[in-house]
Amino acid sequence: MAQINGATENGLSGAAGTGVSRGPPVLPQPVRVQEILNTKIFINNEWHTSIKGKTFPTFNPATGAKICDVQEADKADIDKAVSAARAAAQRGSPWRRMDASSRGRMLTRLADLVERDRTMLATLETMDTGKPFLQSFFIDLDGSIKTLRYYAGWADKIHGKSLPVDESVLCFTKHEPVGVCGAIIPWNFPLLMFMWKLAPALSCGNTVVIKPAEQTPLTALHIGALVKEAGFPPGVVNIVPGFGPSAGAAIAGHMGIDKVAFTGSTQVGQLIKATAASSNLKRVSLELGGKNPCIVFADADLQLAVEETQKGSFYNAGQCCTAASRIFVEESVYEEFVRLSVESAKSIVIGDPLDPRTTHGPQIDRKQYDKIVALIESGKKEGARLECGGGAALDGTGLFLQPTVFTGVQDHMRIATEEIFGPVQCIFSFKSQQEAVERANSSEYGLVSAVFTRSMDRALTVSAALETGTVWVNCYNALHAQAPFGGYKMSGNGRELGEYALAEYTEVKAVTIKLSETL
Ligand code: NAI
Ligand code: MG
Repeated sequence: MAQINGATENGLSGAAGTGVSRGPPVLPQPVRVQEILNTKIFINNEWHTSIKGKTFPTFNPATGAKICDVQEADKADIDKAVSAARAAAQRGSPWRRMDASSRGRMLTRLADLVERDRTMLATLETMDTGKPFLQSFFIDLDGSIKTLRYYAGWADKIHGKSLPVDESVLCFTKHEPVGVCGAIIPWNFPLLMFMWKLAPALSCGNTVVIKPAEQTPLTALHIGALVKEAGFPPGVVNIVPGFGPSAGAAIAGHMGIDKVAFTGSTQVGQLIKATAASSNLKRVSLELGGKNPCIVFADADLQLAVEETQKGSFYNAGQCCTAASRIFVEESVYEEFVRLSVESAKSIVIGDPLDPRTTHGPQIDRKQYDKIVALIESGKKEGARLECGGGAALDGTGLFLQPTVFTGVQDHMRIATEEIFGPVQCIFSFKSQQEAVERANSSEYGLVSAVFTRSMDRALTVSAALETGTVWVNCYNALHAQAPFGGYKMSGNGRELGEYALAEYTEVKAVTIKLSETL
């Protein structure tokens, strides 16, 4: 099943665990969280208070209520975490001496523990982010567990080659861990993005220092407890909750960190790359923004195209780097596509994210909410037509926004060029295939795109022409642990997931041995 997608029938019945089609599936329910246990900095398999004695609150965006205070890591705490990670990465350390197959088993054990705590983790994720509980349970948790299991399988299959070089030598390559890997995580998929970085880093034998986003530290900290329970040696995984300009910048500029992986805004991605370059030239992988185009041809299954593009636009309240934000629809089906899209947008169920009936939750915080409202206003001012939504939902309580559909959008408008990161769908019309591809590609971003058509020939031609790291044909948000994910252009560098991600977490060493005779 797709990692980020609406809860499909398969997902619901499969994960409900009945395996037998007798009556409707029993849906999981959130647990009552009495007390948050893990709120400190996790270093060397121990819980630490902040060196400067600072804490910060984390909030539930659906209610505005404070959930708890968390210890705040700053530069000095990052130094402490890096020392622990360096010691654990030393040649001869228990982690470096561990058999690759045992490393894989340890990742499998962690996956089992995440599965055991799945309902609790899904509840925490919903409280901290505001995303609907069933989406946390089926999408974020399913994706996290599958990512761990996938990279558990790779641990003893990462190897080099022997090479037919000139002269009488034996030359072979070894794929070694990079060393200490830093990771900086966003708030839109806190647990899933954590696992996309943790799992391949550990599979390749690295140690990690991971900073969750300041808005959403709770599920990451719970994983600290599970890492210890799974039996990882101290210092292999260190989790440092804190803010970007302090803790995040300390990771990007640290002389003791060999690689940093980041998911977040393009501006911060640029800062991280500059900081990495001016410190120790650490390796950088970036997964940044998108202004993702969908092209809907007149021969497409229109109902499917409406459903998938809307899922793309509104999933996670539009807070996705993959958000389908520019929908180009062929002129002859444009009117019908708009009619069906508006009808569908109006039927979305907005409400309490802990209520399993809810499919649309609040935005993460006031800053994001205000940014989206300002962009909606700019769309109206610049002459786009507001078909539905456009303002606060639930009578203005909390950070809920109505799913919003704009038509008559022109390519130069702010809503057509800037990443909105909110529930706003922009629909354009086009006349020819060439025009659609050119307009789709005319963006500084290149993360994902989608094509809707019944013609195999057209699907192949158009997907070859689109300048994005991922092209979905007749589907959307179809992310899988086995398939690489990452962007062209200013959407980032490097690839996460799949075999491709292993290259981000390994150094290649060539060993050349002089022989007395030709082999
Ligand atoms: P952000 O890029 O500031 O935050 C993402 C992560 O980077 C957080 O962990 C944050 O603490 C860290 N960070 C911030 N400043 C840093 C610095 N100077 N050095 C190192 N780390 C730093 O994103 P923000 O402000 O939360 O959202 C702004 C916009 O970014 C959103 O509206 C959206 O357009 C985009 N965004 C994209 C995401 C994606 O999935 N690609 C995820 C989150 C935001
Ligand atoms: Mg929160």
